[in-house]
Amino acid sequence: MTGFSIDWLDLREGADRRARADKLLEQARHWLQSDAAPQSEINVVDLGAGTGSTLRAFSAASGSNQDSLSWHLVDQDAQLLAQARLRHEDSHRMQTHELDLSDISALPLEGVKLITASALFDLVSEDFIERLAAEMDRRCQQQAVGLYSALNYDGTTSWTPAHPLDEDVLKAFNRDQKRDKGFGAALGLNAGAYMERVFNSLGFSVYSVRSPWMLNGADSKLVDALIGGIADAVAQNPALNAASLQDWVQFRKSHSSGGTCTVGHTDLLALPKAY
Ligand SMILES: C[S@@+](CC[C@H](N)C(=O)[O-])C[C@H]1O[C@@H](n2cnc3c(N)ncnc32)[C@H](O)[C@@H]1O
Repeated sequence: MTGFSIDWLDLREGADRRARADKLLEQARHWLQSDAAPQSEINVVDLGAGTGSTLRAFSAASGSNQDSLSWHLVDQDAQLLAQARLRHEDSHRMQTHELDLSDISALPLEGVKLITASALFDLVSEDFIERLAAEMDRRCQQQAVGLYSALNYDGTTSWTPAHPLDEDVLKAFNRDQKRDKGFGAALGLNAGAYMERVFNSLGFSVYSVRSPWMLNGADSKLVDALIGGIADAVAQNPALNAASLQDWVQFRKSHSSGGTCTVGHTDLLALPKAY
């Protein structure tokens, strides 16, 4: 079990879609269509796919030609993959793969042109990024492969109206983000910068664009769930007093309809240099 429910993924998808950097999505789609001799089948492998939000984001992008794309959705959660099949099996060329991502040699990367992920790489370790990048670099000698990675949390969260505990809660939350999520110590807020460094060092062209959640009263259900998630994540942190944290939760929830919340992310695209 990974703890990512269909309800939570559905709740965040609208904010994710608004946040995704259109420019990088467009560039990634361009990369997929870039072969001089167009392929009848172009393989895309979506890591930590959940119910298929990245497939939906690519499909929704204007002028998208989906016909030649063959999606491989990889996740360790069978329920999420079943939901993805229910939603897309009839309309897309797609397969699901129930796998643990940390075994990179088991990933269905044969003939892949683009690896995608969203809201994933802050969960993984430095070692995972290095191994994935090395595998892509190795494959580039046969067939060029790029990486599109959206919504990597960057450690910034700001609220209006302000509360005196905001900074302490954020510090504790960012600390929790580095807890091992099954890959070794998680990159958390360093994910975007670390990926940029590793892919640059291998000679990829790396493009990075901010993609913050900009939430207001229209997102109050998501904001309430986010507040609950943050409170759970920091509850055991000895630097936070339980009564003060409770006060923070109550204050935050009382403003989820009237206040705002900005959560920083970056989107990243790494393409082989020759492109
Ligand atoms: C935050 S969710 C993002 C899901 C989807 N990409 C989205 O944006 O809606 C992270 C996903 O990674 C998957 N995941 C986490 N660790 C994994 C692992 N070791 N192997 C395979 N999937 C994993 C979870 O099951 C979950 O679907």
